[in-house]
Amino acid sequence: MSAFAYADARFACDRLPLGDIATAVGTPCHVYSAPTIRERYRALDRALGTTPHALHYALKANSTLAVVRLLRTLGAAIDANSGGEVDVALKAGFSPGEIIFTGVGKTPAELERAVGLGLKAINAESPGELARIDAIARRLGTRARVALRVNPDIDAQSHPHISTGLKRNKFGVPLDDAFDVCVDAAGHRGLHLVGVHAHVGSQIMSIDPLARAASTLAALARRLRAAGVPLDHLDVGGGLGISYDGRPAPDVGDYASALVEATREAGVSLILEPGRWLVAPAGALLSTVVDVKGRPGGRRFVVLDAGMTDLLRPALYSAFHRIVPLERDGRPDVACDVVGPVCESSDTFGVDRELPDPRPGDLVAILDTGAYGAVMASNYNRRAIAPEVLVDAGQWQVIRRRQTIDDLLVFES
Ligand code: LLP
Repeated sequence: MSAFAYADARFACDRLPLGDIATAVGTPCHVYSAPTIRERYRALDRALGTTPHALHYALKANSTLAVVRLLRTLGAAIDANSGGEVDVALKAGFSPGEIIFTGVGKTPAELERAVGLGLKAINAESPGELARIDAIARRLGTRARVALRVNPDIDAQSHPHISTGLKRNKFGVPLDDAFDVCVDAAGHRGLHLVGVHAHVGSQIMSIDPLARAASTLAALARRLRAAGVPLDHLDVGGGLGISYDGRPAPDVGDYASALVEATREAGVSLILEPGRWLVAPAGALLSTVVDVKGRPGGRRFVVLDAGMTDLLRPALYSAFHRIVPLERDGRPDVACDVVGPVCESSDTFGVDRELPDPRPGDLVAILDTGAYGAVMASNYNRRAIAPEVLVDAGQWQVIRRRQTIDDLLVFES
């Protein structure tokens, strides 16, 4: 059952009325349910059963410290995509041996830091990057643990912006070259090749591409072992989709079984990098209606105080998020285009939605914003970054305060 549901006429998070939080903290404001994150982490972990595995939470989905610390208490490890995310992981209490560093354009400074820290693995994107890691490691008198990111040319059938596994995408080394690149890497003094990795996309709504990518990695690992290059792990990335619109989404148990089945023969441990699936349904963005105005064609524009600067997904990917009123007082539903205040027509949260006859001052929640919500915020239009609230054990607390105009100007002369 979702943490976000009506308790009588009031929309609530784990039974705490969200209207109370909105009134106390102001809007826009992100709210997360800690029990939901716990439940989802445990469900995925349990689904993988006794198969040796590690869940490296993809920090890019939501890297607010309190959320990251919560995942640490559950036994998660980390997938970091930048030097900044490595720092956030360390700050949250993770050790370097629990961090995998991925990313398509790692800078010399980021690689130097990653090698020096002795991370669990650096997921290398190219032969050139492997050579740069090797040179740094030899200079530092160490061996860097690396995994090769493979591009398996698999269509994730997700939005083109977040499909990453096709030949034409910038990610990884083409599958045809991967074996030779791995054998070569294994011969470098500064490298310890510990795995192979693929991530074919995000918000994937069918298990098939995920299972195919996993079995491609497993076949590569078997070939490498036969050639005298044994690996420690297969890193199958993240990508499992959730239902934003109520239609059926892949079952986590089926997903886990498919991965286990596809990789069993490889005889190495499994690494997953889940982001969205763990945290998206645990979050909602609260907002206040600031204006309602007629629109040619009969519908009306409902203008919110939240905008694309708080939740970019609808503007960037035409993503669908449900929008619900925080109070139900019997007003009849009317057709609305729900928009933000930013000076772009793409600043639209939903077209032709039903909301109870909105008036300025009404509160709404935009759902499933726990992943790729707050992390993608910007200061466009000099808008302050919204605060974040964590609900746990029947209480709530602010885990990131609202930005002020002074915060925004502090770096400027
Ligand atoms: N591992 C790697 C290497 C990734 O690039 C990603 C996501 C993940 C793991 C986690 O994927 P997930 O389990 O969350 O699907 N901003 C977009 C999503 C971008 C995903 C980028 N990579 C959105 O709002 O839909």
